[in-house]
Amino acid sequence: MPKILVTGCAGFIGSWITQTLLERGATVRGLDNFETGLRENLDPLLAGPHRLDFVECDLRDADATARACEGVEVIFHQAARPSVPRSVKDPGTSHTANLDGTFNLLEGARAAGVRRIIYAASSSAYGNQPGFPRRETMMPMPIAPYPVQKLAGEFYMKSYWQVYGIETVCLRYFNIFGPRQVPNSPYSGVMAKFTLQMMRGERPTIHGDGEQGRDFTYVENAVSANLLAAEASADKVAGRVFNVACGDRHTLNETFRILAQLLDFREPPIYGPTREGDIQNSLADISAAREAFGYDPQVGFEEGLRRTVAWYRQQYATAVP
Ligand code: UD1
Repeated sequence: MPKILVTGCAGFIGSWITQTLLERGATVRGLDNFETGLRENLDPLLAGPHRLDFVECDLRDADATARACEGVEVIFHQAARPSVPRSVKDPGTSHTANLDGTFNLLEGARAAGVRRIIYAASSSAYGNQPGFPRRETMMPMPIAPYPVQKLAGEFYMKSYWQVYGIETVCLRYFNIFGPRQVPNSPYSGVMAKFTLQMMRGERPTIHGDGEQGRDFTYVENAVSANLLAAEASADKVAGRVFNVACGDRHTLNETFRILAQLLDFREPPIYGPTREGDIQNSLADISAAREAFGYDPQVGFEEGLRRTVAWYRQQYATAVP
């Protein structure tokens, strides 16, 4: 197997990709700056027979990033400063982390002769335009700074394929959830946040009327999309963008109800104002990924929720009164 680099290897999705690669016997280098990643996610990756070659590095440091790319053939670029509301509050920091970081990585990859990069793009790039399900051929209409940064990263990826021949593949994630998603930050993904709040007996707040929907996607499906995209032949994937989702839409009200049932939480949610920069709905057509590299999500919404709740219960058992 080629030498692989995972950026954001201590983060939610990055750590799962890294762990899966190591379990398959790959030689993996990982980098993280711990701005949103967690050291505890690294511990299992640094133990065991196939140990991660870990580099503490911030992608805003171009020289360190270039060094991390040396000798690498394939990169999974997961490092980012995620969250739509965080980018609304502080667009500058998001911009440098997401866009300058991605640019430095591309330049490092170019200098090192990296063959392929799989890039974590965002479904938020579709914005609020009419037309469901979302297809990759639709014109992007990002609203908040975060989707603009993620989309600009996609264009950079495409450029580096066309101009420099690096086989870049953009995977537009649709609300990935599951174990290891940070639950206790104001910018946490809704699923993780609601789970921990209910476990603590706190009433979650739904922004808006709760009828907004998302194509929530369990993390294992996203990991499989990454690995398949890395293995696919270049003529099927290079320079292209793919939705990574389940192809199902679930509202926040529905999500709240199922989580409440799983956690035996009996209070109603609090309804608050709509969040600035939010999109109303998302639902993906996943046929392009299916056709190009055989993507086939195996874990559905409810099964994903069950696994997620079981994990948080075990992980945060001592933290809950
Ligand atoms: C999420 C991801 C983003 C990714 C995008 C597309 C996170 C933090 N964000 O954005 O990185 O690019 O999907 O895959 O994982 N909500 C509440 N109450 C809360 C928190 C959220 O009602 O306490 C609502 C939000 O207003 C929104 C929905 O839940 O309508 C989803 O929010 P969030 O989990 O933050 O995800 P996205 O903004 O969709």
